[in-house]
Amino acid sequence: MEEQDTVAFHVENRIAWVKFNRPEKRNAMSPSLNRRMMEVLDELEHRDDVGVLVLSGEGTAWSAGMDLKEYFRETEAQGLRGVRKSQRESYGWFRRLRWFQKPTIAMVNGWCFGGGFGPLFACDLAISADEAKYGLSEINWGILPGGGVTKVVVDLLPMRDAMWLTLTGDLIDGKQASAMRLVNESVPLDQLEARTREVAENLLKKNAVALKFAKDAVRRVGTMTYDEAEDYLVRMQEAANFHDKTEGRKEGIRQFIDEKSYKPGLGAYDQSKVKS
Ligand code: COA
Repeated sequence: MEEQDTVAFHVENRIAWVKFNRPEKRNAMSPSLNRRMMEVLDELEHRDDVGVLVLSGEGTAWSAGMDLKEYFRETEAQGLRGVRKSQRESYGWFRRLRWFQKPTIAMVNGWCFGGGFGPLFACDLAISADEAKYGLSEINWGILPGGGVTKVVVDLLPMRDAMWLTLTGDLIDGKQASAMRLVNESVPLDQLEARTREVAENLLKKNAVALKFAKDAVRRVGTMTYDEAEDYLVRMQEAANFHDKTEGRKEGIRQFIDEKSYKPGLGAYDQSKVKS
C-alpha cells in the first residue's frame, strides 16, 4: 500500500471525515500512516470549508494501536535514530490533533487498542459504537502503555479504572467505555455515523473562534491553579475578541437583547447574520 493511501478523507457539508485506512492491518499505526496523518491534518486544518473533523477507521477496527512490526520491530532494527524518528512522527500528529484548530470527534467504530488511546484522547469528543472494543493490550505483550497512553487513562478515568485496564489488558465495549467516561456516549454501530453527524452539525452552528479558544481552555486549565486559570481565561477571551473578525460576541448579545430572535440558553445565535 502506498503511504498516501494509509489515510482516507473527504469533506462534505463542512465536516472532514478522516479514516485510518489500513483495514487489512486493523488500522495499526505504521510510520507511513503516522506521516500521512500529519499531512492530512496539515491540509485540512485551515481550510475554510472545514468546520469539524471526524476521525474513524475503515473496516472492523478504529485502530489496533501501534504497528508491532513496522512501528516497533522495524524501527528498532534501525537503532535509536529510527526509534526516535518514528516516535516523533506519531506523537507529532497526536499533538497536532490535540490542538487542532477545529473541534474534533473520534467516531470509534471498532477495535481501539493501546496507542489508539493517543488519538482517542487527542479528539475533543468521542462517540463509540456499542460494539467497539477497547483495551490496553500492552501488558499482554510485555510492555507498559507508553506513547502517552498511561497519561491518557489517568487524565480521563478514575485511578481504579485506569489501573484495571493497565494491569489486566481486559477489553471493555462501547457501553462500558461510555459509563467509564472514556467516551462521551455509545450508540449501536448502525447509528454511529448519523449520531456523529448530528453532533458535528451542532458544533458547526457555533462561533468557530469561540470553539477553538474554549476547547484549548478545557485542556489547559487542568494543570493551573484557580488564579492562573482565572487570569488565563480573561486573557484568552480578550484574544478571542481580537481574532473573531465577525464580532460574534456582540452579535450574540444583539440577537438576544435587541432582536429577540433566539435564546442563548436554548441554542446558538444565527451566524448567517454576522458580517464576515
Ligand atoms: N500491529 C501490527 N499488525 C497488526 C496489528 C498491530 N497492532 N494489529 C493487527 N495487525 C495485523 C495482523 O498481524 C494481521 O496481519 P496479517 O493479515 O498479515 O497476518 C492483520 O492485521 C489482521 O489481524 P488479525 O489478528 O488477523 O485480526 P482479528 O480481527 O482477528 O483481530 C485484533 C483483531 C485487533 C484483536 C488483533 O489483530 C490484535 O490483537 N492486534 C494487536 C492489538 C495490540 O496489541 N495493539 C497494541 C499495540 S500498542
